[in-house]
Amino acid sequence: MSEVVERWGSRRAFIIAVTGAAVGLGNIWRFPWMVGENGGSVFLLLYVAFVLLLGLPVMVAEILIGRAGRRTPMQALAFLAQEAGGSRHWRLLGLLGGITLFLILSFYAVVSGWSLEYLVDAFSGDFASRSPQEIGAAFDAFLASPGRVIINQTLFMVLTMSVVAFGVGSGLERLNNLLMPLLYLLLVVLVGYAATTTGFGTALRWLFWPDPQAITFMVVLNAMGHAFFTLAVGAGALMAYGAYMPEGQSVPRAVVTVALLDILVALLAGIAIFSIVFSQGMDPASGPGLMFVTLPVAFSQLPGGALWLGSFFILLLIATWTSSINLAEPMVAMLHSAGLRRVTSALLIGSGVWLVGLPSALSFSWLSDVQPIGGMTFFDLATTIPTDILLPVGGLLIAFFAVWVMDAPRAVQALSSNERFFVIWRQVTRWIAIPLLTLVLVGAMF
Ligand code: TRP
Repeated sequence: MSEVVERWGSRRAFIIAVTGAAVGLGNIWRFPWMVGENGGSVFLLLYVAFVLLLGLPVMVAEILIGRAGRRTPMQALAFLAQEAGGSRHWRLLGLLGGITLFLILSFYAVVSGWSLEYLVDAFSGDFASRSPQEIGAAFDAFLASPGRVIINQTLFMVLTMSVVAFGVGSGLERLNNLLMPLLYLLLVVLVGYAATTTGFGTALRWLFWPDPQAITFMVVLNAMGHAFFTLAVGAGALMAYGAYMPEGQSVPRAVVTVALLDILVALLAGIAIFSIVFSQGMDPASGPGLMFVTLPVAFSQLPGGALWLGSFFILLLIATWTSSINLAEPMVAMLHSAGLRRVTSALLIGSGVWLVGLPSALSFSWLSDVQPIGGMTFFDLATTIPTDILLPVGGLLIAFFAVWVMDAPRAVQALSSNERFFVIWRQVTRWIAIPLLTLVLVGAMF
């Protein structure tokens, strides 16, 4: 159970890495899809509330545990539990996180593969003269061709694992640092364009004007799961990143920066996408294909559309890449700490995730009729259960561990902030985050 020796090169590098983990498909693909299917403004409001009330406290807890333990998630939990006189079995929480990450990465690679396919199509200018209906039909045809979907899934898996095999502190972070501001800029341009469309006003009203009638229990559960997913918390992935934190860096500041940026990116993507939806008379509840149909339509209206769209997908690819690296890192680090070489661990995890992702990849073709539970395909199951159930359960246990099990002086020290923040964080976690999370999860069982 030795300590990890890797460190992020600087404080900035840590923030960049966590932002890289947080900002990804969750903001640009999953968020608009979820908002669309869950009735608009109410989902958005709940999502923001959950990010602030649940996501942030759990994120602090997670990074704190990794930082204090300076080990891979399972070992950090076992070490800190023992130190506080608790049970070694807490390390099973690290295992639960590993399983969650495994399942999430399995479909994440499939969807990232879709964007890979689009990257090439975008530059070719194929989208330019097509109507939304034609673009939609082409997307469905692509999903229905197993070979193309699997090739892209495989490619993306190779991209991810080849970075993780050599450690996450490498050159990609620098690339990320350079290119992510460009992605934000492109989103702003897109919103600027959206403001000139006829659907802009409708989109804003639909997104921001609360409609209490739309609240159902499913909406609450979806919003909660999404808050965890988009912040990358609940499965120990940020625990692993916290272990590499430099000495003396303040956790609260890093965490707040990341959360605000994450919300901002989602809002920009949402405004852009729904302006297109409403100006083209499309259905907001178009499911996981929403982004893939609306963005080509939007960009093709701009002069030089192919270039815009292609650039957007390149930047999106980098954003998803840094997220998938974060998904893979804890699993690889855990195998590595058990004695395997890093490269071997990456190969094993990569192949396993790829294999388990195949049913998701085939859910729109060969396996479209296979619906193991309640009319849901493998893809539907992979995109809901780990996110809506496993992440919140993991988050609840992580928060509980940090405020009720771990030694308080340890926690204060690992936060590297003032004592007052620690007290506020602990009260909010104990008396708001944990009860609220429990309430929603218990509600979900009925
Ligand atoms: N947050 C990422 C996104 O929005 C996905 C992600 C990265 C993630 N690391 C994670 C989700 C860890 C859950 C746990 O695309």
